[in-house]
Amino acid sequence: MMKFLLLVVLAAGAYGCGLPSFPPMVTRVVGGEDATPNSWPWQISLQYNKEGEWRHTCGGTLISDQWVLTAAHCISKGKQYRVAMGKHNLTQDEDTAVFMNPASIIVHEKWSPLFIRNDIALIKLDAPVNVKDTVMPACLPAAGFLLPHNSPCYVTGWGRLSTGGPIAENLQQALLPSVDHATCTRSDWWGGMVRKTMVCAGGDGVVAGCNGDSGGPLNCQNAEGAWEVHGIVSFGLGLSCNFPKKPTVFTSVSSYAGWINSVSLQADTGGSWSHVCGGALISANWVLTAAHCINVRNTYRVQLGKHSLKVEDEEGSLAVWTARIISHKQYSTMLSRNDIALIKLSSPVTFSDTVMAACLPEPGLVLPRGAPCHLSGWGRLSTSGPLADLLQQALLPVVNYETCSHPDWWSFLATDKMVCAGGDGIKSGCSGDSGGPLNCQSPDGSWAVHGVVSFGSGQGCNVLQKPTIFTRVSAYISWINKVMTTN
Ligand SMILES: *[C@@H]1O[C@H](CO)[C@@H](O)[C@H](O)[C@H]1NC(C)=O
Repeated sequence: MMKFLLLVVLAAGAYGCGLPSFPPMVTRVVGGEDATPNSWPWQISLQYNKEGEWRHTCGGTLISDQWVLTAAHCISKGKQYRVAMGKHNLTQDEDTAVFMNPASIIVHEKWSPLFIRNDIALIKLDAPVNVKDTVMPACLPAAGFLLPHNSPCYVTGWGRLSTGGPIAENLQQALLPSVDHATCTRSDWWGGMVRKTMVCAGGDGVVAGCNGDSGGPLNCQNAEGAWEVHGIVSFGLGLSCNFPKKPTVFTSVSSYAGWINSVSLQADTGGSWSHVCGGALISANWVLTAAHCINVRNTYRVQLGKHSLKVEDEEGSLAVWTARIISHKQYSTMLSRNDIALIKLSSPVTFSDTVMAACLPEPGLVLPRGAPCHLSGWGRLSTSGPLADLLQQALLPVVNYETCSHPDWWSFLATDKMVCAGGDGIKSGCSGDSGGPLNCQSPDGSWAVHGVVSFGSGQGCNVLQKPTIFTRVSAYISWINKVMTTN
């Protein structure tokens, strides 16, 4: 079993995250201020119906086209809620506003109002929202990520402007530098009230989140410039919004990455996810697959660490959203040229025994004829047969370009930017394997992905002189690096 590339791409939201069309003005002024309209497009207003009138009760964060993250303490049984997106001035009718009803609300099963632990809830919208300039999901940090002390994060919300004051009409933002766990748990700060699953920010006595901000996001920019939501406003000092040494306390999103993924993706399944293609994890947040696997109209999720496709909750497996999908601009459907795409995951994954990145080959490296490579995937077991339940592997020796492009073989359809492997009439890749990797061992024993399954013979999976054709990864290393550094 080659564990590093056990991954499935499953169909169903291709969208970006964390990069607003109207960038927030982050001027580092001290004190809250009006946000630039729609510059925090993942900010939602959670509203409840009070005698026929919708009232703002909490903030929240759109984290995909159908899921909203908020605080558990924002949710009361028996209340009717709606989610307002694309809002700036809460009292104004705005063209940008989108209102949607929850299909379900899932409060963390271990939510403790007494100790304010696990203050997190997910709201599933009754339909996917149209992602646009003014309504856009946030990125989430990697599981277990710890914010360094004093990171410049921003809390946003329509919360009270001052202790006991009214809620704001316009969305407010305030710079709230993060406070590390050691400082926040000092006895004269929050002491034992603050757990490892919480993040603190503020506490300088000047700026702080206030009650009405509950459930709203703590937004911090990552190294690539995208905004990630690291916290959900959980509590502060009831007496005052901005008391020294009493920073606002947030539920740490990175501590609940697993919970968020499992709850939301499980609820999303409902029979609607199906295996489309294989792919290979090549870094903590990038997956290599084939361009022909991607249909811009579909939403995708990526499953990693899988062995059996039938088992829902496999130990060691995880499902992740896609943040962005980039297909090669010169991909040609007709000739299957440049059949390569990269998927950016919405949050980086933590490597484990079951999830690991494959190596990439040296740029330009061409494997010799007969090199023993292995195809892996859940592709069809025989021509037009069913998909495999368990991950399959097959030895496919490399066929050199001269042979592969011979008129009796693939002729002009094979180019020198492809790898041919197999073609002995017995073992070969089949269509369900599309996008999946051709794994070849390097002299140092590490496995590298030399090919991405592109096409085979339409007549069958194992036609003599028709080896499986892969996009040759070593021909695209600079493209891969460019995409990964600029997205
Ligand atoms: C918000 O909209 C209302 C209604 O149009 C308007 O009266 C009010 O002045 C606006 N608030 C701000 C702060 O601009």
